[in-house]
Amino acid sequence: LLQPIVAPSILSADFANLAEECKQVLDAGADWLHVDIMDGNFVNNLTIGPPVVKCLRKHTLAYFDCHLMVNDPLKWVEIFGSVGASGYTFHLEAIEPDPQNWTRASEKVVALCKDIRLHGMKVGISIKPHTPWQALEPYILAGCVDMVLIMTVEPGFGGQKFIPETVSKVVSLRKLFPQLNIEVDGGIAPNTIEQVAKAGANIAVAGSAIFGADDRKQVISLLKQTLYE
Ligand code: DX5
Ligand code: ZN
Repeated sequence: LLQPIVAPSILSADFANLAEECKQVLDAGADWLHVDIMDGNFVNNLTIGPPVVKCLRKHTLAYFDCHLMVNDPLKWVEIFGSVGASGYTFHLEAIEPDPQNWTRASEKVVALCKDIRLHGMKVGISIKPHTPWQALEPYILAGCVDMVLIMTVEPGFGGQKFIPETVSKVVSLRKLFPQLNIEVDGGIAPNTIEQVAKAGANIAVAGSAIFGADDRKQVISLLKQTLYE
């Protein structure tokens, strides 16, 4: 049986009060903390980096689900491992931007997956809304990944509108891989969770829907109850 997991994206938290915000959502039932790392190149935004993860680690033992929206994910594995990241999810497009290379396993991607595990973290591979789910298949079959992340918005910013066309990718992956951890990220809220859960997603990231809610606990439990098991 798969575990349903709710991972609030701290991108929508009050950064001036981050430790308290993290504690609050964890107390409210959050399973993981989703940490969005952006380098201003892979996406047009700058967020947080290793020093923040290191400081947060002193406040909690929670699972830090780090989502790297960076051009060179190979470069940051060691440092994120050492500051206390639990999961390291990179974008396939950052390593293999050419769709022609998405039909078979790329040596660079496989090596990166191995390196992430070597540094004590779980491996996640993410794809953007226009990347086909088939691009992930070689790595799942090779046993390289612990989780896939299907972006349900274009990566870069919190608070965007959910893209329904991405849901069919979750359906296809779930059909083929009943035991795979499938995470969705972007525009996940009480009004969109049902369709992704039904499609087979067992891990939900939500930023604005949780941090912007009056009752965060209620939103977290609603998302968790709805997720695929
Ligand atoms: C977007 C990030 C998301 C973002 C989600 O690039 O990967 O994690 O914070 O925010 P919401 O839930 O507000 O769409
Ligand atoms: Zn994210």
